[in-house]
Amino acid sequence: MKLVLATGNKGKLREFKQMCKDEVVPFSDLLGEMEIVEDADSFKGNALIKARVIYEKLGEEYLVVSDDSGISVPVLGGEPGIYSARYAGAGATDKENLLKLVESVKSKGLAKTPAYYTAAIAIVSKYGEYVVHGWMHGEVLSEPRGDKGFGYDPMFIPNGYEETLGELDDDIKKRISHRAKALKLAKPIIEMLKRA
Ligand code: IMP
Repeated sequence: MKLVLATGNKGKLREFKQMCKDEVVPFSDLLGEMEIVEDADSFKGNALIKARVIYEKLGEEYLVVSDDSGISVPVLGGEPGIYSARYAGAGATDKENLLKLVESVKSKGLAKTPAYYTAAIAIVSKYGEYVVHGWMHGEVLSEPRGDKGFGYDPMFIPNGYEETLGELDDDIKKRISHRAKALKLAKPIIEMLKRA
């Protein structure tokens, strides 16, 4: 079975490629660019929507893996959460979303506040559907630092570190991230399905 990743997000794709020994192909290589409406009310629901749409287009030879993720800030009532990719509006860039979150944290008069990333990874194949989750806890800053990673990384300090994910080595994020933790759970499922 061929492994296809249901994401067009370059940051996620780069991280999946670093973390998987398997050759992962983005769906756009096979199907071209496609807009998928993610209108569920959870990371899990949106991850399933993405994986199902791609699986239905590609068919039974494929094992489709998707990632729906985002950052939640309790002092902001959990925002941006599932709306992380469009926090500053539909079609917003990562930079615009980051700046909006910086403004939201500043509007609370805070220099930093607890936050966490969530990743839901869905796996869809002819053998059925699976979803696993991973989390990374830390703090968001009102002054972003560094340019590594992607998205909200320059404003996020993982627990146990002094630097933001924009400053820390990719190797560290690869070990501790929400995506890495979810993928650790997803890998045995993927292996099992490939042998089924
Ligand atoms: P999705 O592609 O709909 O799952 O949107 C995920 C959004 O959450 C991305 O556009 C990023 O803004 C944010 N996000 C998810 N994971 C990360 C991460 O590891 N670092 C930084 N931002 C992330």
